[in-house]
This record gives sequence, C-alpha cells and structure tokens, in this order.
Amino acid sequence: MVTHSGTPALAELAGRDFLCSADLSAEQTSQLLLLASDLKHGRRRIDLAGRSLGLIFSKASTRTRVSFTVAMARLGGQTIDLNPQVSQVGRGEPVADTARVLSRYVDALAIRTFAQSELEEYAHWASIPVINALTDLEHPCQALADYLTMAECFAGGADGRLELERLQGLTMAYVGDGNNVAHSLMICGALLGVNVRVGGPAGYQPSAAVLEQARRLAGDRCTISVLQDPMDTVRGAHALYTDVWASMGQEEEKGARERDFSGWCLNEELVAEADARAIVLHCLPAYRGLEISARAMEGSSNRIFEQAENRMHAQQALLAALLGGLN
Ligand code: CP
Ligand code: NVA
Repeated sequence: MVTHSGTPALAELAGRDFLCSADLSAEQTSQLLLLASDLKHGRRRIDLAGRSLGLIFSKASTRTRVSFTVAMARLGGQTIDLNPQVSQVGRGEPVADTARVLSRYVDALAIRTFAQSELEEYAHWASIPVINALTDLEHPCQALADYLTMAECFAGGADGRLELERLQGLTMAYVGDGNNVAHSLMICGALLGVNVRVGGPAGYQPSAAVLEQARRLAGDRCTISVLQDPMDTVRGAHALYTDVWASMGQEEEKGARERDFSGWCLNEELVAEADARAIVLHCLPAYRGLEISARAMEGSSNRIFEQAENRMHAQQALLAALLGGLN
C-alpha cells in the first residue's frame, strides 16, 4: 500500500517539465498527492529559500496565479509576475529569447497560454522546469488538486494519511465541455486507476487523441468513457464535476454553446442519480444556472472550496519535486 511520500520516483522529477498530466508516471502522480497531503497537514517541511518561480500568464487567473504565489512563499521562495502586459513578451519578443534569458534569472516558469505548442516551445528553449498553468489542451495542475480532493473524501486512512489504492474502482463523472480540464481529468484519472466518464453533447467531446492516450495509460485497471447522456454519465459516480461551457478564448461562441449545452447543467437531479456519498467538484470560476445549478453548487455534496484550496497544496508538492527540494 502506498502511504508515504518522498520516494526516489519524485526525486527523478528534479529539473523536469510538467507540460501535461502524462509527464508523470502513475507512481509519481500518487507520490505527489501523498506529498501534497503531508505538506497540507504539516507532516513534511520543504525549504525552497532563495528559489524563484516566474509566472507568464497570457490569460486571466485567480486560483492558479494566487495558489502558485502562496505555494512558493510557503516553501520560502518567491514568484515574479511576468505577464505579457508588463514584459516584452507582449511586444513580440521571441519565445526562444525570453525563455533563454529567464532561465538565467528564475528557477522555474509557470505558463498559462492558448496553444500547447507555445508551452512546448518555452520548454524547448528553457533550461529550467516549465509548468503548464493551463493551455487549451490541458490543465494538469488542476487535475492533481481534483484527485487530491477525491482522495481526501474517499481514501483517507484512520491516521489521516491517504490510502490511494482505495481510489481504484471509483468513478469520476465529468459533465459538460470536453475541454482542457476534462482532458487532464481523463489522463490523471487513468494514472490513478479511477474510472473517468466524460459526458457532453455531440460536437463537444474530448479529443480522440487524449481519449486514446488515457485508455492506453488506464490499461485494464480502470475505464475511460465518453457518453452523450447526462444521467448515464453520472449514474452511481463518486465525484461529479463540471466546468464552464465557454473556456477562455471561446467568448464569441458563448451564445451558441449555451444553446448546445441545454440539458447539461449539473443540478440536483444529476446529484441524486450519483452514489449517495458523491461529491460535487468544479474547477471555478462557476456560472450558476448554466453549467451548474446554485443548489448543486451550494449543497451538502459540495467540495469545491476544498478543491480550490488543494490547488495550493498540490502545487507545493509539484514545485518541491521539480525544483529538487526533495533531494
Ligand atoms: N481553476 C482555475 O484554474 O482557476 P483560475 O482560472 O482562476 O486560475
Ligand atoms: N476550461 C476553462 C478552465 C478555467 C480554469 C478555461 O480554459 O477557461
């Protein structure tokens, strides 16, 4: 049973990038969640004094930006805000130059942008770890916090430590747009042995390539499915999850998407169809009355704010590993 963090599997991450959920092995994913839980509950201390994390955010952010900033501060390090409006990035300085220069100042970069290929270009030129703080393809830091929250609810041992094997066989049901958040949930779920169902209307389903990748990683440990009926998606599930129907960059499609997603609101009826212990998750920001009802959002199954808090704990664990704080 895996209950202790800090194995050689995490030490191997020192200096590496985290561009997508599959950059971690199944063991590293589990170990990071255990380390996050240890840090959260004061069972572990890590010192990153003198280390700096650069934040290059080309899209808005509340949780990711603040949780990275606080995570770094709690570890004794600091963050530097390099968003495009205040740096030469926004005036067209090439990624190749920016990445090489910043590698001489900071110890890691967390980047939020549109194309995964731009993130990969930063990673190619940078000599320091590059972290995906959300792209159009994936939101892998979010998925770590999501499964940490699910583990706290379903896999807490008597001594408060997580017993992650108990996640295996449980079901995460995501209803809505097959987007970046859904993709990371599929891959991270596959690594942890959690069944993942993604349900949404035709035309808004997850990428076929991500589905294939997640199924390959899942092997015969768990199932990764795509459905087109909301009730079928949530039936008997242990975690119900949704996200905005129009992601950042899709603002012009908002009206059409609201029509196309009609009937896909995560509401009390869907919650009633799930397992009696089911929890409700949302990465936030949430739009009540669209992808989630106010009652589902504020009901007793809601673990959304624990989930938001867990961004900070999961990212502390990630930063500790990538910056070599465990070695
Ligand atoms: N969930 C999430 O990534 O939130 P922000 O966009 O506020 O960072
Ligand atoms: N899918 C959303 C997630 C926001 C945290 C977006 O990309 O805008």
